[in-house]
Amino acid sequence: MGGNLYNFSALIISYDTPHHERQNWQGRTWFCSTHRGRIASGYTLPMHANSRPITTSQNDIHSQLASVVARHAATAFLKPILSYNRQAFEASMEAWQACGSKPLILDAGCGVGLSTRHLAQQFPDHFVIGVDQSAHRLSRNTMWQGSLPTNFMLVRADLVDYWRLMHAAGIRLARHYLLYPNPWPKIGQLARRWHGHAVFPAMLALGGEFECRSNWALYIEECAAAIRQLTSAEVSMERHAPVSPITPFEQKYLASGHSLWRCRARLSPVAAACKPV
Ligand SMILES: C[S@@+](CC[C@H](N)C(=O)[O-])C[C@H]1O[C@@H](n2cnc3c(N)ncnc32)[C@H](O)[C@@H]1O
Repeated sequence: MGGNLYNFSALIISYDTPHHERQNWQGRTWFCSTHRGRIASGYTLPMHANSRPITTSQNDIHSQLASVVARHAATAFLKPILSYNRQAFEASMEAWQACGSKPLILDAGCGVGLSTRHLAQQFPDHFVIGVDQSAHRLSRNTMWQGSLPTNFMLVRADLVDYWRLMHAAGIRLARHYLLYPNPWPKIGQLARRWHGHAVFPAMLALGGEFECRSNWALYIEECAAAIRQLTSAEVSMERHAPVSPITPFEQKYLASGHSLWRCRARLSPVAAACKPV
């Protein structure tokens, strides 16, 4: 991906794509025919039913979770925003506005973007942005049955910056999905879990119907506890047993016989002024 600034489109258009495809985007034609042609019938994924359950020596909510969350809420997170994330953010906002600034759904850590497509289909009057840092995953040839929704795009960016840019721009989400984030199950890895990360307060401040799913119940318990600590939102936690999985990880975990969990909360947006970026 040498020299590219970002990848995005309803599928993916990057700075590495041929010039005419970029022009298509600028002309607001999200789907370039070459990409559309790949969306053939019959969604297929390599079916792995051999995912190992989470192994961890952590038996309860992390003993330092509350103090870590409180510290992040009380201090400004000053890591500089990288220019490729800013450019990706600005381009995605332009695309969203060009599509009529419909209520916005963020699929954070979307992987190959399968859930982004499902959410776009489920919420046709919304616009869905799927963000992932992995250009490799985003460019994977994801198959889709039937006609592809037109109300979504995929963005290559680091969420640590993308969330803060959204917050600083005063963006309000209608819905916010965090589906099967990397669990980082070792005790010393709390800071790598999203609720233990310094960006967590900015993420929550975007508001909307928030949902996090995981195959590790403790991750969901911690996420719920951190939300309760920072907001007055009611947080529900439950087993999640989807009839048809909407992400490759969901599919893999179900096929491997794992229990799935989720927490949900209706978050009130918080003004950006309280958390500078
Ligand atoms: C376990 S995968 C889950 C992918 C997808 N949600 C699914 O369920 O199939 C976690 C994803 O989060 C992405 N990710 C992790 N850290 C990220 C970051 N800082 N910014 C953007 N994406 C990130 C990874 O690239 C990966 O695709």
